[in-house]
Amino acid sequence: MGSETIDNNLDKGLIKEIKKRRTFAIISHPDAGKTTLTEKLLLFGGAIQQAGAVKSRKITRAATSDFLSIEQERGISVSSSVMKFNYKDYEINLLDTPGHKDFSEDTYRVLTAVDCAIMIIDNAKGVEPQTRKLMEVCRMRNTPIITFINKLDREGMEPLDIFEDIEDKLQIECVPLTWPIGMGKRFKGVYDLEKKELGIFSPGYDPKNDDGILIQDLADKRLDELISESQAELLREDVDLILGAAEPFDMDLYLNGTQTPVFFGSAINNFGVREMLDAFVKIAPPPGLRPTATRDVNPAEKNFSGFTFKIQANMDPEHRDRIAFFRICSGKFTKGMKVRHHRIGKDIKISNATIFLAQERSNVDQAYPGDIIGIHNHGTIKIGDTFTTKEPLKFLGIPNFAPEHFRRVLLKDPMKAKALTKGLMQLAEEGTIQVFKPLTGNLHILGAVGVLQFDVTMARLKAEYTVNAGYESIDLSVARWVTCEDEQIFKEFTKRNQSSLAKDAEGRLTFLTTSEYQLGFTMEEWPKIEFHKTREHNL
Ligand code: G4P
Repeated sequence: MGSETIDNNLDKGLIKEIKKRRTFAIISHPDAGKTTLTEKLLLFGGAIQQAGAVKSRKITRAATSDFLSIEQERGISVSSSVMKFNYKDYEINLLDTPGHKDFSEDTYRVLTAVDCAIMIIDNAKGVEPQTRKLMEVCRMRNTPIITFINKLDREGMEPLDIFEDIEDKLQIECVPLTWPIGMGKRFKGVYDLEKKELGIFSPGYDPKNDDGILIQDLADKRLDELISESQAELLREDVDLILGAAEPFDMDLYLNGTQTPVFFGSAINNFGVREMLDAFVKIAPPPGLRPTATRDVNPAEKNFSGFTFKIQANMDPEHRDRIAFFRICSGKFTKGMKVRHHRIGKDIKISNATIFLAQERSNVDQAYPGDIIGIHNHGTIKIGDTFTTKEPLKFLGIPNFAPEHFRRVLLKDPMKAKALTKGLMQLAEEGTIQVFKPLTGNLHILGAVGVLQFDVTMARLKAEYTVNAGYESIDLSVARWVTCEDEQIFKEFTKRNQSSLAKDAEGRLTFLTTSEYQLGFTMEEWPKIEFHKTREHNL
């Protein structure tokens, strides 16, 4: 199809809606302040009325991973997986990346559905391991990253040392858009390097009663009174230095993920949050082109399209439905519309989709590119499924991630072997767990990115498939999908490595081994074999 034909299919009315939308996630290491920042953003957006609303859900989520708490957690996390709020003229979709005990493939996959991410770094800790992992995923799609350095009200690293840490560990260039005034007890607020103004706030100030004091000229003598002469002098020097020496913010570099604008603040005290949010709505990209196996899809195309990036099962035995989280990529969704479910080759009518507001779920009448809708189903939708008006598209960039934890499944009741296989296959389709069938041997090996996935799997096998099973540990820690262009070499590799090979739920050959060291050894031995850390759902 030529680009002219596609242009004719663009809908001007849609463009207005698309421009308003910002779909993003927050990435951070546990305890950096994600919950706190989320709450402040929702407060600014008027989506919640008081602090504590998001926090209370976190306390419930932090409970141990027994069956009941998984159930509770799921009930809660459905409504908080996507939070829609408005700020100024913008419609913002904030997608939660569960990141504590429940770290799993879902966390990663959520990032495939966003157009931008806010990265929170704890001022005292710098870049931490989970942030690194999440950044790796963002890098796969060159997702633009906005950085928020949090907890400036505590002593921590100097701003330039934090930049060095980020640039070193994450290979992304930092460009400050705000600059902190002091740190710890001396922290007084942030200077906005773009607007060239300075908000001085009292701790815990209320965004609704904007009681900050605004200084618009650094030479203003009031500054010396407000933040002390020495701090004012230091700020003037810092700002001179930064404006002279720092690389300028470059929209293109930021949009392709090689440069990150940096904001400083203290989420809990509301310092610097407004500055970031104001910049965010301006520089976070609206929904853009999305690649499919055949062509790039423009969000303003009249024809509807989108994909499923997450499935949430309802643990309530009374309601055995599942919710498929579906990202709209083009066209307008209207309640009751008929779409083509390409994998099963059928038209389906979506009459009961849900839109997720910060504190409630409501039935959606219409939705636009960038929006996430929840589609109820009984197991007919799986991760990566694409629905369109007509054209058989397959969206790319929805991967499986190589598991890092493994267990062998031991069936307690041998009569249930069939039910076990069926259950595991369905749970694999939903992305709950990865299932591998070794080339030699009969027992299933399960693989997960986060260990909570094992508990959820076992609980669901019992509740939904009445399968009583257990786990046995297994000496594996690395998995890679393997391919090779040379058929002969691939055959030879398969023959010689039978005991380390398994097929995943979709029959793709996977190399399983004990350590990165062993993997490296095998890779050296077989240079023509490709070892993949991720695998596309739709290829
Ligand atoms: P998370 O979702 O990323 O795990 O982090 P969360 O927001 O829960 O914050 C982790 C801890 O850091 C919380 O303290 C929170 O109050 C604190 N925090 C968040 N932002 C700031 C900040 O700007 N400055 C300071 N000093 N602390 C901040 P907690 O003791 O674990 O919980 P709580 O008792 O405060 O609820």
